[in-house]
Amino acid sequence: MDNAALQQYIEQQQTRYIEELKEFLRISSISTSPQHANDVYQCAEWLAHAAKAVGLENVQIFPTEGHPVVYGDYIHAGDNAPTVLFYGHYDVQPTDPLNLWTNPPFEPTVRDGKIYARGAVDDKGQVFMQLKALEIHTKVIRELPVNVKVLIEGEEEIGSVHLEKFLREKLHMLAADTVLISDTAMFADEVPSICYGLRGLCYMEIEVTGPNRDLHSGVFGGAVANPANALAKILAALTDSYGRITIPGFYDDVIPLTDEEREQYRSLPHNEEEYCRELEIPATDGEFGYSTLEKTSARPSLDVNGLWGGYTGEGAKTVLPSKAYAKVSMRLVPNQNPQDIAHKFEKYVVQIAPPTVRVRVRALHGGRPVITPTRSKGIQAAMRAMEQAFGKKPFLTREGGSIPIVLLFQDILNAPVVLMGVGLNTENPHSPDEHFTLKNLYRGILASALFYKELASIWHSDKY
Ligand code: BES
Ligand code: MN
Ligand code: MN
Repeated sequence: MDNAALQQYIEQQQTRYIEELKEFLRISSISTSPQHANDVYQCAEWLAHAAKAVGLENVQIFPTEGHPVVYGDYIHAGDNAPTVLFYGHYDVQPTDPLNLWTNPPFEPTVRDGKIYARGAVDDKGQVFMQLKALEIHTKVIRELPVNVKVLIEGEEEIGSVHLEKFLREKLHMLAADTVLISDTAMFADEVPSICYGLRGLCYMEIEVTGPNRDLHSGVFGGAVANPANALAKILAALTDSYGRITIPGFYDDVIPLTDEEREQYRSLPHNEEEYCRELEIPATDGEFGYSTLEKTSARPSLDVNGLWGGYTGEGAKTVLPSKAYAKVSMRLVPNQNPQDIAHKFEKYVVQIAPPTVRVRVRALHGGRPVITPTRSKGIQAAMRAMEQAFGKKPFLTREGGSIPIVLLFQDILNAPVVLMGVGLNTENPHSPDEHFTLKNLYRGILASALFYKELASIWHSDKY
């Protein structure tokens, strides 16, 4: 089948695609919340069923100490053909604040050519897209020119805590020449890109304790250290007026941008004014001397994700709280190591905390930063496939988000990773009204189907 015929087939399937994707999106597979553990399991079962339906074989749900992993394969292209491992995640982020959703997060709705639901773009919609691409090969073309393995986990949004063990235990089952992932964004709508770098993550929690109970702020205020005030000082001291992170040794392992990379960044279409307007911010912020694109993908950052303690209800309550908390995440770049950064963070926070309070620091989860080899055949095949499906040559970009397992695929399976995502950063992943643009879903199905064809055709050529 030529591309026009494939495109026509995909067009004819749109209604069915939307109905199937809605089923997937209705399952509230929120991995972080114990009340949803059963929904996460149901989602794995739905996926296993869907994997069988598209023709995958050896489909299995593997239990882990956390949420299960779904596996399936289709290995009929022979020993000479490359083996691709597709990885994605079926778990989703929590949905709060619920009142900001136009429609409930697990009641998928199509509006203006977009499908709205938690997980629509991150990552159920993109996992679905890959399954439909495989379906085209197994059921329509009736030939898949590469061997394919599919691994879809339920713990990506909580740091892929049990996946490393699974990888090490199932090395043989998962062995592959290339790993394909669709869990990133394109540079912008109508601006296709392949992502070759992701930031890592180090996520910490700080607990500051003052007096042994909440106190009347009039009776004790002034003499007893307030943990919320102390926490504010600690957080303020984590960055300086140049937007640099002050934790000693924080930048030790950061690989600086080369002139060539900075030149490449400058060549990407970015409009600072439009960026600020869309976000309704007066100006951008951050590390002095770097551009917005550099700051959000190739330089580390530190953000308070949540801050609480004392009275946060309506109106006023005069109280000097006993405790205050903050959740702080740091995005890391090669070659920073999350454990090392967690250690440096803890040491520094304890050191700068006022002696009048007690402070406890905990590391929640982490993920290592990664750069993927852009000269790999996988990336070359993805570039060709994206160009045909989106009608434009894709840019090569780095992104600021994290997918914790990517580096381990490269280290443990020794297989280069291809990040071929078709989401948009403006589609509200992790936020209310998350959505996925349907035209990108359809083109993404085409691009993914073509990826396998392109990879098979260049696999034995010396040109790449
Ligand atoms: N799909 C995202 C990662 C991502 C986002 C890549 C945007 C590129 C652009 C993934 O599901 C995610 O959200 N990862 C978490 C990491 C995790 C350890 C919680 C993240 O980046 O916050
Ligand atoms: Mn994701
Ligand atoms: Mn996510």
